[in-house]
Amino acid sequence: MPYLDSFNRPISYLRVSVTDRCNLRCVYCMPPEGVPWRPHGEVLRYEEIETVVRAAAELGISKIRLTGGEPLVRRGLVDLVSTISCIPGLDDLAMTTNGTLLARYAKELKAAGLKRVNVSLDTLRPERFRRITRLGELSATLEGIAAAKEADLVPVKINTVVIRCLNDDEVVDFARLTRAPDWHVRFIEVMPLGDNADWAGNGYVPMAEVRERIERELGELRPARLGGGGGPARYYRLSGAHGTVGFITPISEHFCYQCNRLRLTADGKLRPCLLSDYEIDLRTPLRQGAAMEEIKHLIVEAVRAKPERHHLSEQVIPQGRVMSEIGG
Ligand code: 5AD
Ligand code: SF4
Repeated sequence: MPYLDSFNRPISYLRVSVTDRCNLRCVYCMPPEGVPWRPHGEVLRYEEIETVVRAAAELGISKIRLTGGEPLVRRGLVDLVSTISCIPGLDDLAMTTNGTLLARYAKELKAAGLKRVNVSLDTLRPERFRRITRLGELSATLEGIAAAKEADLVPVKINTVVIRCLNDDEVVDFARLTRAPDWHVRFIEVMPLGDNADWAGNGYVPMAEVRERIERELGELRPARLGGGGGPARYYRLSGAHGTVGFITPISEHFCYQCNRLRLTADGKLRPCLLSDYEIDLRTPLRQGAAMEEIKHLIVEAVRAKPERHHLSEQVIPQGRVMSEIGG
């Protein structure tokens, strides 16, 4: 049974950032010059990650998501997937990726026990893709998405952060994709984090507006279900469509009351809330040879420290890290 936090939320989900490095520099996530990568020694080794996941699983965590940076830039990731997929107690193992390397790894990841992927994709226009990601090629990500579907890493969910004057004119194009089989698109309100706060404030588009635009062009969105969830997205379907349109509203309608997750940063800190800088260090005890019980104890402490909700509306904006160091 999952552990309950102080607000009676069952904590069943751990997001594991396996690296702070990324092969893209998305404008909402990183400054143009990038962020200095952490030296390898500061990043948890795979055995250390495995220990934390085992401890979490013993505490009733049943769902793991690997995130980054970009998880697939870390060497040997497929081996980590194999190891984690054999840990008893887990029933879901997923990954969030920018898709650029999926064409290369999708099959191996599936064979290693990965169940599914979420792929970040903010535009369907090649030129704009280059502008938003600063380093990427749209075709690589599209090929990655196709490879993931081919390898049965499904449902593949597309994450689209909507930003005013950057890609908000494409929400209808994205929604239209869901009429084809296997396209599930989730629109996300941009969140302020660290230095991007002003920028995110200016670019913020409430999901009510996105929904209205889609319905005006493509007709009514009816409530729907999409498997593998348990997260904050709310799903809808266009009439006659196979796929779903999801909305994630951290700003306009926070979903903290149903938050079920903890985060592990690449450098080994447990972060009870994405939007609070409070963290618990696991790396030091891990490297001092802490016993499993001690790691479990620290995880319970993180669960107990989960705040009731974020306080963005009161201008409490986390400053400690950029998104690429937490993994969304
Ligand atoms: N606001 C909302 N979503 C973000 N992501 C990255 N930065 C932000 C932000 N500031 C998304 C990515 C990815 C997921 C892990 O988080 O697009 O899909
Ligand atoms: Fe949970 Fe924090 Fe996210 Fe709110 S902002 S849903 S409390 S992790």
